Amino acid sequence: MGKKSGGPHPVSANNPCPFLRALVATGELADDREPLAKVAAVVAATARAGDGRPVLPRMAVYAIGSVANGLGPLSLADTQWHGLQLNALRGGPLDKKGVGSGLLDARGAIDAKEVSRLRGFAKEKTNDDGSSELGLGLPELRAYMDANFARAAGRRRSIDRALMIGEWPVLLNVMGKEGPGGRYLGLQDVIDLFKNRKFPERMNKRLRARS
Ligand code: HEM
Repeated sequence: MGKKSGGPHPVSANNPCPFLRALVATGELADDREPLAKVAAVVAATARAGDGRPVLPRMAVYAIGSVANGLGPLSLADTQWHGLQLNALRGGPLDKKGVGSGLLDARGAIDAKEVSRLRGFAKEKTNDDGSSELGLGLPELRAYMDANFARAAGRRRSIDRALMIGEWPVLLNVMGKEGPGGRYLGLQDVIDLFKNRKFPERMNKRLRARS
């Protein structure tokens, strides 16, 4: 994994992915261009620091990255040869153009109204140490994704609902906690990721222990 120095690294507003934004902020990935293989390796290694050591297949991440800057033959070749431009994801084929959560605005800042809306979908969850907190399991995430898709009626593509499956459920897999009632995303963990571009401390500890 890359070496970190100083404070958090600045992240382009044109990178709308909360997960990639955190990887740039922590210095694991550059803000501009990175080879696809490196993006795939860093994402997979970060995922392995999640609870239960989640496995994200590198090839799947590689495939998603391959199309993220554009589907035309020139874009595809450019990404393949020169890497993924993390600061040029906005406007690309994976950009749902406001059909998603809306948690981040076009400048990459957190929208407080959207955070309250997300909180409305969260339920009280029991942690494996017996304490409880607000969180979102798969049923809550499904309801949230459906609502995000529904409110975008008229300006959504049918593929947008499918793209969400590669976002929130994957985040649940990577950053979720295993409670007696099943795996859930801690609401505070989600807010920290989107707002502060930070991974949960338990993941950071495992990542540090490895480097
Ligand atoms: C090469 C890898 C990846 C690329 C190119 C990518 C790209 C993107 C893009 C373009 C968006 C914005 C979509 C929108 O308009 O709402 C996005 C959102 C998102 N991504 Fe990623 N992503 C990648 C990997 C990941 C991974 C590994 C995770 C989870 C661990 C993840 C979780 C999310 C989430 C939760 C959102 C927010 C959706 C919303 O706000 O509704 N992404 N990603």
